Amino acid sequence: MENNKLHICDHPLVQHKISLVRDKNTGSKEFRELVSEISMLMCYEATRDLPLKSVQIQTPLAIADSNVISGRKLAFVPILRAGLGMAEGAVKLVPAAKIGHIGIFRDKANGNTASEYYCKLPFDIAERDVIITDLMLATGVSAVHAVKKVKESGARSIKFMCLIACPEGANALHSAYPDVDIYCGAMDEGLNDDLYIVPGIGDGGDRLFGTK
Ligand code: URA
Repeated sequence: MENNKLHICDHPLVQHKISLVRDKNTGSKEFRELVSEISMLMCYEATRDLPLKSVQIQTPLAIADSNVISGRKLAFVPILRAGLGMAEGAVKLVPAAKIGHIGIFRDKANGNTASEYYCKLPFDIAERDVIITDLMLATGVSAVHAVKKVKESGARSIKFMCLIACPEGANALHSAYPDVDIYCGAMDEGLNDDLYIVPGIGDGGDRLFGTK
């Protein structure tokens, strides 16, 4: 994969917090808070290329030549349900962003294909740059399906942001959509027989929502 398409956020704060998230003794409350904090930090990286325009601002002392974001609109699209935790943190950083939702499960009975059960995207998504969020990029089945839906809706650009990726998922997403940049906090070893990322974090949705 071209390096510019895969961004592993090596910031010490992100790496430290990911270690806490990995710990099986971290409970749901702390897990949620950490995911939210990591997402904010990763969103900072994923929005680094937003264009700026110069403006003049009257400070209490003088006129300053300064910069503001030049009208690019963002949307976050979490993949239900684990992606919700990531979007919640990211939107704190970009409060004006809209949020769409895509519910997808990997249909084991149907050859591990993506099965969509819900999709609601912002009506003006075609004017927006979209960051799709999920906790894990495992097989890539859900990610590829989510990108397909968001592309069909006409979004201006698409990025994919997750906490933990593995080579299988990153390669699947990159092969299907080479134009989609992937932002992750760690690239783990790979998938086990149950298609969990190893060492990973276990079941991200269950840990986020305390359902197990
Ligand atoms: N989904 C999870 O929650 N965990 C994994 O390791 C892979 C997919």
